Amino acid sequence: MFLLLLVLIQSSLGSHSYFQGVELLSDVNYTQGFSVIPACFVNPDACAKGPQFRLYNPFSTAPNASASWQMAQWDSHSNISTNGTFVHDGKIEGMQWLSEDKRFILFQDSRLQISVNGYHEYQGKYRTPDEPWVALLIQQSIGKSAGSVSLNQVTELRWNLDIQLLYMDQHIQPGYNPNIHAGQFPLYMTIQNLSPGDPDYGKYFWLGICLYDDRFPMSPLYVNGDKGTGALIYQPAFSNFANVSVQNGSIVHVTGNMMPFVRLGLEAAVERGFLNSTDLSKYYVGGMNIGWEVTGLNNGTIEIGNFSLKQYTAQNPKSYEFNQDGDTEGWKLAFNSNASGSNPSNGKWILSLPNEYSYVSSPEVMIDASVVKKVIIRTNYNMLQLHWTRNHKELFNKNDRFRSELENDGKCKEHILDLSNHPHWYGIVRRFRIDSVRQDNTTDFIIDYIRFSPS
Ligand SMILES: *[C@@H]1O[C@H](CO)[C@@H](O)[C@H](O)[C@H]1NC(C)=O
Ligand SMILES: *[C@@H]1O[C@H](CO)[C@@H](O)[C@H](O)[C@H]1NC(C)=O
Ligand SMILES: *[C@@H]1O[C@H](CO)[C@@H](O)[C@H](O)[C@H]1NC(C)=O
Ligand SMILES: *[C@@H]1O[C@H](CO)[C@@H](O)[C@H](O)[C@H]1NC(C)=O
Ligand SMILES: *[C@@H]1O[C@H](CO)[C@@H](O)[C@H](O)[C@H]1NC(C)=O
Ligand SMILES: *[C@@H]1O[C@H](CO)[C@@H](O)[C@H](O)[C@H]1NC(C)=O
Ligand SMILES: *[C@@H]1O[C@H](CO)[C@@H](O)[C@H](O)[C@H]1NC(C)=O
Ligand SMILES: *[C@@H]1O[C@H](CO)[C@@H](O)[C@H](O)[C@H]1NC(C)=O
Ligand SMILES: *[C@@H]1O[C@H](CO)[C@@H](O)[C@H](O)[C@H]1NC(C)=O
Ligand SMILES: *[C@@H]1O[C@H](CO)[C@@H](O)[C@H](O)[C@H]1NC(C)=O
Ligand SMILES: *[C@@H]1O[C@H](CO)[C@@H](O)[C@H](O)[C@H]1NC(C)=O
Repeated sequence: MFLLLLVLIQSSLGSHSYFQGVELLSDVNYTQGFSVIPACFVNPDACAKGPQFRLYNPFSTAPNASASWQMAQWDSHSNISTNGTFVHDGKIEGMQWLSEDKRFILFQDSRLQISVNGYHEYQGKYRTPDEPWVALLIQQSIGKSAGSVSLNQVTELRWNLDIQLLYMDQHIQPGYNPNIHAGQFPLYMTIQNLSPGDPDYGKYFWLGICLYDDRFPMSPLYVNGDKGTGALIYQPAFSNFANVSVQNGSIVHVTGNMMPFVRLGLEAAVERGFLNSTDLSKYYVGGMNIGWEVTGLNNGTIEIGNFSLKQYTAQNPKSYEFNQDGDTEGWKLAFNSNASGSNPSNGKWILSLPNEYSYVSSPEVMIDASVVKKVIIRTNYNMLQLHWTRNHKELFNKNDRFRSELENDGKCKEHILDLSNHPHWYGIVRRFRIDSVRQDNTTDFIIDYIRFSPS
């Protein structure tokens, strides 16, 4: 209940409040900085369990508390210094911490710039396949206390981040073997059995996205056991999450629903004997990490921003904002496969409807009608009709609909469809369809967003 209130209050600026899912990452703005695990190259066992040190966010006004974020510097030859210096990247001020092997900058707008100098770490000599490799990661545990619910209840589990490669020197020299020498920047979460009393309680697999790899423009599917943790790594192809390679050097927006890959990863983990059950009700998001894994002599810098992991359920569903150019978020226009301008751009989906039988239909959804009471559609049309269905097919019953009419002022406005007293608004809704009710056939139908609200 507390989470629900928080989410609604935050969103009530300017327009009707609406569900926005649950952010599973704690402290997305790094207000508490980072708790740093010491670099334990010299004496791994004694030092890894020793006290951690802290990097404080100098831009935060929040009272000091414990840090949600940890920094790990696995097998690095130096500890990052806690003595930061202010830097400015031309956009905004940041705090920089470094050592001879790495550099980490936290900017005031919550961007992170993460650098590893593999050449210096390995003293210019390639590591052998058996030697450990260097990493610089940030990580946090998630689990039930951070709001993760069992994955059978989750309709979407969505990463969002912007990532940019700022620098890469591969330092390729004699002895290079691409099978063992690389600079990678993966993003992982653990899908973990947190079902109390289960014999496999605590077991997990790694579900990853390889955001950057100096060997591949777009990393392919990778499924393999991880020596270090004895757990399966399931890493879908990067093309599922972005269309542009991070190697290109532009800011790449990475987003994608992990639920299909949770299922595929669990199947692979059971098939290969890493886990015993594919029952989603036992599994939760256990934790995550992101950062450099450097097995070669690579010297690289990557920046990330707008970092988020959202969990959506039937009781706290995703809205459809049409804010990514070209992405209809699974909605489609029926009877008009050739419509011009039929992909969202600049935050709006503009549709020229060819005839009176045209409508837009949703992807498969899961909306709990006992919790979701209003559907909010922002459009330029003053009349529209919403249909819904509880079946998985696109079969709509004529009783399951609601018509909305507003003043005809030609402007974009919110239709707030209050279904709380509608006799046919019940159960779990699986699909929607929106009919524009047209007075003329010359005006494009513009959809800005489709949102859901509890009241
Ligand atoms: C994080 O910072 C961004 C931009 O400064 C702000 O819009 C957002 O509300 C902040 N998030 C939280 C949880 O404080
Ligand atoms: C938090 O603690 C650090 C280290 O003691 C200190 O430098 C910083 O000013 C404190 N921040 C706040 C907001 O009190
Ligand atoms: C990093 O610091 C810890 C103490 O916090 C120390 O035990 C360790 O040896 C240091 N690591 C390196 C590589 O110097
Ligand atoms: C911290 O860094 C500043 C600037 O580089 C330097 O003047 C200062 O002596 C350093 N302090 C410590 C404790 O290393
Ligand atoms: C990639 O581009 C296609 C076509 O423009 C689009 O449908 C898809 O959503 C894009 N995928 C991502 C992850 O941006
Ligand atoms: C990289 O960028 C170029 C030009 O900007 C584009 O043609 C190419 O498709 C991009 N490559 C990938 C893998 O995204
Ligand atoms: C699977 O279950 C068996 C029997 O409970 C147990 O011995 C084994 O360790 C489990 N394997 C895994 C990978 O969890
Ligand atoms: C490594 O990269 C940093 C920038 O990230 C640069 O300042 C430094 O000179 C580079 N060092 C080597 C050995 O390439
Ligand atoms: C974060 O998102 C905002 C709004 O889309 C964008 O202006 C900004 O450039 C993004 N930040 C980064 C680091 O990409
Ligand atoms: C779409 O356009 C193609 C080529 O112009 C045409 O062959 C096809 O019949 C059109 N489809 C529809 C549904 O209008
Ligand atoms: C609009 O409808 C009229 C009458 O049905 C038709 O003659 C006209 O061609 C239509 N215009 C467009 C742009 O579809």
